[in-house]
Amino acid sequence: MNVYDSGRMADVLAPLGYAPAADACDADMVILNTCHIRDRAAEKVFSELGRLRLIKQARAEAGGRMILAVAGCVAQAEGAEILARAPFVDIVLGPQTYHRLPEMVAQASRAAGAVIDTDFPAEDKFDHLPDAAAPPGLTAFLTIQEGCDKFCSFCVVPYTRGAELSRPEAAVLAEARRLVALGAREITLLGQNVNGWHGAAAGGAPSSLGQLVRRLAEIPDLWRIRYTTSHPRDMDDDLIAAHAEVPQLMPFLHLPVQSGSDRVLAAMNRRHGVADFRHIVERLRAARPDLALSSDFIVGHPGETPADFEATLALIRQVGFAQAFSFKYSPRPGTPAASASGQVDEAEKDRRLQELQALLREQQAAFNRACVGLRTKVLFTGPGRHPGQVAGRSPWLHPVHATGPAGLIGRETEVIIDAAHPNSLSASLPEQERACA
Ligand code: 5AD
Ligand code: SF4
Repeated sequence: MNVYDSGRMADVLAPLGYAPAADACDADMVILNTCHIRDRAAEKVFSELGRLRLIKQARAEAGGRMILAVAGCVAQAEGAEILARAPFVDIVLGPQTYHRLPEMVAQASRAAGAVIDTDFPAEDKFDHLPDAAAPPGLTAFLTIQEGCDKFCSFCVVPYTRGAELSRPEAAVLAEARRLVALGAREITLLGQNVNGWHGAAAGGAPSSLGQLVRRLAEIPDLWRIRYTTSHPRDMDDDLIAAHAEVPQLMPFLHLPVQSGSDRVLAAMNRRHGVADFRHIVERLRAARPDLALSSDFIVGHPGETPADFEATLALIRQVGFAQAFSFKYSPRPGTPAASASGQVDEAEKDRRLQELQALLREQQAAFNRACVGLRTKVLFTGPGRHPGQVAGRSPWLHPVHATGPAGLIGRETEVIIDAAHPNSLSASLPEQERACA
């Protein structure tokens, strides 16, 4: 979502004459768009600010000026601390106010002293954003939902991104049509709780993500649709049915489960049990047998015992994941888990993470190996690493390299997968494609 937000900030700033710079050293303004989900992210912001301070100083000494802004969730959560620790920052803005960037830039240019805007404004930023200024490329992101009302024990998102908000269906469809007209062939719908989307359809009736996917699939030349990130609680029948009915909906789903222990899931306030998750997976696989799953896992949530951790490993073995993200629990200020009893020792968290990641790596390797020999479609999006190669994505989001002409870029073409690597696949073109390409 930060990639999407950064693009929209560039759109807002384009009418003021700003265009992306290749390097901070050449920039009149630098915006750090930040993430607050885990502790390391916030620390990275401060170390990056230290580096930018030197560039800003050098520019001032040469008679120029660089505006330095910190945006996103670290700004939202720690705006005052940023200004205290880094008083050379000119603008601090939260994720809900970037449509106001032009005013902030004007203010920062005029005034000495920092501008801070971390409101949750009454107006919807999406109503105040201009249309995209730059072509999106073949694969595009589209935010349809923001914020979260779920309040998992460990998570800062409800505090930094605010309450759940769904964009209206008409606005989403209009943006999707525009992206496709500008060349996008794959759209990934984004939201912190994307499958909780319930934006009003035409006439004001509430819609659902399943319905939205069906409407998007009517857009000619939109070949691929994905959505991320989902909560198991919002995986309703209609959305599962869409996986069976809409061929454009790709057979790859990121569905975070966090833990395989009912006790830990309850402590996390996830509002579902392990059996519910397994049941959702069964129904998804019945709807779309080639569906591959990804997930998020946290090890060492307060109160997680060795037996709870074993239960997570058992769930992973039962379900089988094509890939996954896994993290050591990191206490976030202001969240219930941060002050809960039963904090797990750091070394133990490390040990659990390593064991979990070894299992996930094994599963990923097995999934990739199982793709060898498949005939499947790849959307080629650019040149490969080596001359004469093109690169793209499989339906399951693998990076795929193939030997082939640049004319394949922008096409969704059938290939034969001939080798699996830890994080990617190699493919060759069938005989007839090679002849006509
Ligand atoms: N500690 C560790 N991981 C976290 N995540 C969210 N908050 C924390 C935290 N405090 C992980 C969850 C979530 C992903 C985006 O980040 O697994 O799904
Ligand atoms: Fe955070 Fe996701 Fe839980 Fe919302 S549902 S609180 S975004 S982990």
